[in-house]
Order: sequence, then structure tokens, then C-alpha cells
Amino acid sequence: MGTTAIIMAAGQGTRMKSSKAKVVHEVLGRPLVRWVIESARAAGADKIVTVVGHGRDQVEPLVGEDTTVVVQEEQRGTADAVASCTQELQGATGSLLVLNGDCPLVTPEILTSLIAEREANDAGVAIMTMDLEDPTGYGRVIRGADGLVERIVEQKDCSPEQLAVTECNAGFYCFDAELLFQALEQVSDDNANGEFYLTDVIEIARKNNRAAVGCKAQDPRECLGVNTRVQLAEATKIMQHRINERHMLAGVTIIDPDTVWIGADVSIGPDTQILPMTMLNGTTSIGEGSIVGPNTRLTDTVVGNDCVIDETVAVQARIDDGCTCGPRAYLRPDAHLMEGAKAGTHVEIKKSTIGPGSKVPHLSYIGDTQMGAGVNVGAGSITCNYDGAKKWQTTIGDNTFVGSDTMMVAPVNIGSDVLIGAGSVITEDVPDGSLALGRARQVVKEGRVASHC
Ligand code: UD1
Ligand code: CA
Repeated sequence: MGTTAIIMAAGQGTRMKSSKAKVVHEVLGRPLVRWVIESARAAGADKIVTVVGHGRDQVEPLVGEDTTVVVQEEQRGTADAVASCTQELQGATGSLLVLNGDCPLVTPEILTSLIAEREANDAGVAIMTMDLEDPTGYGRVIRGADGLVERIVEQKDCSPEQLAVTECNAGFYCFDAELLFQALEQVSDDNANGEFYLTDVIEIARKNNRAAVGCKAQDPRECLGVNTRVQLAEATKIMQHRINERHMLAGVTIIDPDTVWIGADVSIGPDTQILPMTMLNGTTSIGEGSIVGPNTRLTDTVVGNDCVIDETVAVQARIDDGCTCGPRAYLRPDAHLMEGAKAGTHVEIKKSTIGPGSKVPHLSYIGDTQMGAGVNVGAGSITCNYDGAKKWQTTIGDNTFVGSDTMMVAPVNIGSDVLIGAGSVITEDVPDGSLALGRARQVVKEGRVASHC
């Protein structure tokens, strides 16, 4: 039988000082609560119940599709959050994971070890703990002489001796489901915060002769919670290195992992190099043997093999094998560079196909354009696709040469094997194989300028 997990995501997150619910804040493009859901899923949880409350209109769309949503009407503490699942989980027996929704670094391995530990000891609860140099803000784990957990005391309720304890509650638990729901009825709000603390279940379990085992994390960085924006940055930094290491171990060169930021859902082929100051966001994928960066940001963009993407910003673009981009190219949604194409320096391309081997090397804007193969667009050339009200299409056939500083006023069709003279304004269609010139004739009036000497 699979495991059930409750994810508590109803709290306000006052310490974030935000108009957004805390668990909506992102670590490398993925909301805090989604990181926890993904780990629970990877640990084998087949039923996941997410408790929402504060900012539920923001949280529910993030969790509603693949988890069961339960509403905690009033946020009266973590025990109350779990109690709001009572009906949904009626009759539940065996291991039940309960996870803070604000701990994005939790790994599936931590959760499976927690389940194993509880079951091996037939404990009432297994609790993940961690040793922190600075335990400020966390619940302190108080162990008995037998090594079992006696209770967890929140910072505000700690005596001076308890404050000195460095073993902290990580916020991940595996409970015996039956015991949990019985015990919740006995939890009170008699503490400094006036909240119902889930951690009070430990003492109640002990009174029922059910042990609470503490499993200390080898690496506390897997358990850090996010209560403030400072901790959000710390968690992001840890996740950044975790993701970069995964790619490096899979054959990607990242020479400065401190300045490379890769989202959770990005894929990169072996022998690709990611150079400094590069961000890869969303569902970006990159093939093999490409060089990306420095100073590059790709969002939801597909890059093929053997490309060179230098100082480029691309959003929802497609870059096929062997292309070169930049330095300083800007590819906007639906820009598609076909095999071997080039978008050079200070070039912006939007909703356009640049055919195989075609080149737009310098200072150009290409929008709403279908360009064939082997085209060369001279420096400073522009498609004038917008008349102030509507966008219009430009087509350019194969092997056409567009002279520098050409304005192509859309809608306009330019054929194949066309030669356009530099400085032309092209307002009429140009048939295949033609020379087109659309510029004023040069006038030279000799001797008309008085000598300056
Ligand atoms: C909690 C633990 C603390 C532990 C720390 C680890 C309790 C009482 N304390 O403290 O021992 O060291 O996590 O990070 O559990 N939530 C609800 N409904 C509520 C209150 C909270 O869903 O009514 C959710 C929050 O959205 C959050 C999680 O529960 O995801 C933890 O709540 P939070 O207020 O952050 O608890 P901490 O003070 O961090
Ligand atoms: Ca917290």
C-alpha cells in the first residue's frame, strides 16, 4: 500500500512581510510548496493532502491539480492544520507523513528514511531533527535518558537551558495515523503563541506508551525552513548548487557554479558548457556540445546541439542545431532559428522563422517573418511589421541578399535569389531573381561647398 502525506501550507508567513502567501514564493522558479510535493511524490506518497488557508486563492491553483485540497478556515497552528484533514483521512492507518510546506530542500531519501525508522521501531512518530549552529526560531528537541524524544519546545516557550539545545525540529514527521488523529483531540493552545502545536502530539503519544524517535539529518541543509526572505535566499543558494552538481555529474561543464542559476525543470545534454552569469529558467532544454553564456538568460527555450549562445536573452524561442546567437541577441516568443542560422549582435527577433543557414548578423529587428534558407540580412535592416494598429507579415525566399539598412514594410513578399540594394525601403513585392532598389538617387553638386581653409 502506498503512503499518504499531509502538506501544511495554510500559514500566512508573517515574517516574509509579503502580500503573497509564503508557500507561493519561489526557489529557482518553483513555489516552496511544490518542492515539498515533488519530494513526497518521489518518496512514494500516492495520496497527498495539501492544507490551504491563508492566501488560498494563490495556493490552490498550484496544488489543486495533483493533490487533495483541504481548507483550514482559521490558522490556529500546525496541530489544527492536520486536524482539518480528519474527515478526508478518516480510517487511515499505518504511516502518515506530515510535512511543513515551507521546507523546499527536503529530499525523498529523508522522507523514506523517516517512514522506515517509524516502522522499524513501531513508534508513534518518527521526527526529523537537525543540529544547527544557530537554532534561532526552530523548535528544540528535548531527548530523554533513553535517547527518545520527550518533547519539542518552541523557541518562545523555551527555558534558558532549552534555548541552548542545538538539535531542532525539522518539520517532517511520520506518524502512526490512528494515534495522530486521537492525540490531536487532546492538544491545547496553552503556550506563548496561543496556537495548537502539532509537536504536542509527542508528549501525548508518550503518555500512551508510544515512542517518539528522532532521526537526525546528516546534512541540516536538507531541512532548512523558509520563514524570512533571508532564509529564502539561503535555500535558493543551496538548491542552486544541488541542481548545478546534478548537471555537472551528468556531463555538463559549469566553470563557475556560483553564478549559474538553473531551474528545476531544465534539461542539458552532455558536453555542453554553461558559462558564468547564466540563468536557465522554466522548461528550457539544451542539447549536447553547446556553449551557453556568459551573461545569458533563457526561459522556456529549446536549444539544439553544437550551438553558441553568447550574451543572449531568449524567451519561448527555438534554436536548432549549430546556430549562433549574440553577443547581445534578444529572441522573443516564437522566434525559431533553423539549423545553422545566426542571430548576431544587437538583433531582436520575434514570431519569425529564420531558415537553415540564414544570417541576421548585426543591428536588426525581424518580426512576423518567414525567412527561407541561406538568406543574408545586412546590418541595420528591419521589418516594419506594425502600422500602429495591426501586425503584418513579411516573407523572404531562399538565398536572398538584403542590403544593409533595408526597411521591409509589411505586408510584403520578397522572393528567392533577390538582391536588395542597401538603404532601400521595400514597400512592394519583389519577384524571384530580381534586383530591388528603393532609395533616393544620390545627388552630387560639385564645388558647392565653400572651402573651410
Ligand atoms: C515549525 C515547528 C517547529 C519547527 C519548524 C521547522 C510547530 C509548532 N513548530 O515552526 O518546531 O522547528 O516548523 O521549520 O509545528 N501552517 C498551517 N496552518 C497553521 C499554521 C502553520 O498550515 O495554522 C503551516 C505553514 O504554512 C508552514 C508550516 O505549517 O508551512 C509550519 O508553520 P510555521 O508557522 O512556519 O512554523 P514554524 O514557526 O516554522
Ligand atoms: Ca516555518
